[in-house]
Amino acid sequence: MARRSAVEADDTFFRHMVGGMRNGVLAFTRDGRLTLINDEAYTIFDVAQQPEDLGRPVAEVLQAHPEVVRVLHTVFEVHHLPNRAELRLRPSGRVIGYTLALVRDDSGRVIGASMFFKDLTRVEQLEERERLRDRLAALGEMAAAIAHEVKNPLAGIEVMAGLLRRKTVESPEAQKVLADIINEAKMANKIVQEVLEFVRPIRLQVDRTAVSEAVRSAVQLADTKVKRGDIYVEMQMPETLPQIHGDPHQLTQLFTNLLTNAYEAMEGRGRVTISASATRMEDGAAGRDAVLVEFADEGPGMPSDVADRVFSPFFTTKAQGSGLGLAIVRKIVDAHDGSIDMQTAPGRGTKVRVTLPVVGIDGFVNS
Ligand SMILES: Nc1ncnc2c1ncn2[C@@H]1O[C@H](COP(=O)(O)OP(=O)(O)OP(=O)(O)O)[C@@H](O)[C@H]1O
Ligand SMILES: [Mg+2]
Repeated sequence: MARRSAVEADDTFFRHMVGGMRNGVLAFTRDGRLTLINDEAYTIFDVAQQPEDLGRPVAEVLQAHPEVVRVLHTVFEVHHLPNRAELRLRPSGRVIGYTLALVRDDSGRVIGASMFFKDLTRVEQLEERERLRDRLAALGEMAAAIAHEVKNPLAGIEVMAGLLRRKTVESPEAQKVLADIINEAKMANKIVQEVLEFVRPIRLQVDRTAVSEAVRSAVQLADTKVKRGDIYVEMQMPETLPQIHGDPHQLTQLFTNLLTNAYEAMEGRGRVTISASATRMEDGAAGRDAVLVEFADEGPGMPSDVADRVFSPFFTTKAQGSGLGLAIVRKIVDAHDGSIDMQTAPGRGTKVRVTLPVVGIDGFVNS
């Protein structure tokens, strides 16, 4: 009797163990009846749990997954059971990795079989992202090499056109053509520069950074990039803002790109308001302290079909734009583990909101 109750305790223990497993588990008898299935299995198969499932034929319980049933039916016939095999579930497109095993009684007779499996979709996605990163790295290297090669002849064109311009002061026609050549060369150079910046992998030089300092540097830097005209920049930066773990140069670049967009949108008139405040990022169980920086302009705003594409590399509505400004912005925000969104509508101006965590995940904490 004592021995029996110990076995019962073990049974409950095993039931709970299987129930709580983070793998899908199911088992069935020789005649194909389900004897065990855990919650994770239901989740992966996306099958609603019924109280009478146990004891029913597996083929019925899993009728939405004929490909799984087929595999289960072979288990008593094949000599060599796969230890690690993969299967794509038809309805959901999920990929599961599974192991099959026979269940034997004390005398070694086969009385059933079990399947142990895991949803590999996420693993696949990670691998896919890894592959994409490799591809982008290769592409980036190529783009960087080409850009580098193009830079020298471009600089040559600009210098030589400048020389020629000095030699042809008496011909206004030649002067105009040469000025055009120089401008075009400058523009091509700017694009090359931006492509280089975009494809270069970001390595953050993390430091304690005052966001307000980065914004101030950006205001200065933006003036060297585009004509501000009479645009007034208003800053609302509380003194008490926490410093963040970030790369001050990259952040300056980020804010500069946002400012140049605002200046270009406003064509020399109006006001840009930059405000910052302490906030929380609700991205984990406990959330994280963060700084919110908002850039609001009084430009023409954008229709939603434009706004949807602004972060894509090379998307531009400007004759002289490369369309990389916001793609670089997104890259820098991502590298800081932050987030960015945009509120805009035609005639309503544009507000870009950048949220940067005070401390990013791993990497940042120690610096
Ligand atoms: N503040 C803004 N107001 C209105 N439109 C904007 C604003 N910011 C971005 N856009 C739109 O988004 C597009 C993409 O911006 P992005 O900064 O990526 O490239 P760009 O400014 O066109 O070129 P680049 O920044 O490379 O010189 C712009 O061409 C413009 O149409
Ligand atoms: Mg831009």
